[in-house]
Amino acid sequence: MTADRISYRLTVNGTAHEVRDAWPHETLLHVLRFRLGLTGTKYGCELAAATVGSAITTIEGYNNPNGSLTPLQRAFVKHGALQCGYCTPGFVMSAAALIAANPELSEDDIREGMVGNLCRCTGYGRIIAAIKEAAGDGSE
Ligand code: FES
Repeated sequence: MTADRISYRLTVNGTAHEVRDAWPHETLLHVLRFRLGLTGTKYGCELAAATVGSAITTIEGYNNPNGSLTPLQRAFVKHGALQCGYCTPGFVMSAAALIAANPELSEDDIREGMVGNLCRCTGYGRIIAAIKEAAGDGSE
């Protein structure tokens, strides 16, 4: 390790990863995508070193223990809530956190909770319907 670089351990999807010789200002996005090969995460994540000690879950780690789709993911498929798929990991992860925090979501709660996620393909109606169904199911 050089004087300008740092090394640290991150727990991602339940697995500990050593990040060696990283720049202190290296983004979490860069570490996840280019050092760990987890490309489901898109631009929007802040500094990787700021997350040390946190348990990070990416779309690659968001599934049932047997690897099957979660009810939220199944609802996205059922409602056709994706087209190109670029935004889908972000919507799924944000929706999972929203449902976990409040399983009794109204449509307004969902729209407000998803305000930071952008989709240029779907027009949002199908995404909202999928999240609403998953929230109503109460299993996320
Ligand atoms: Fe293409 Fe959302 S499905 S950006």
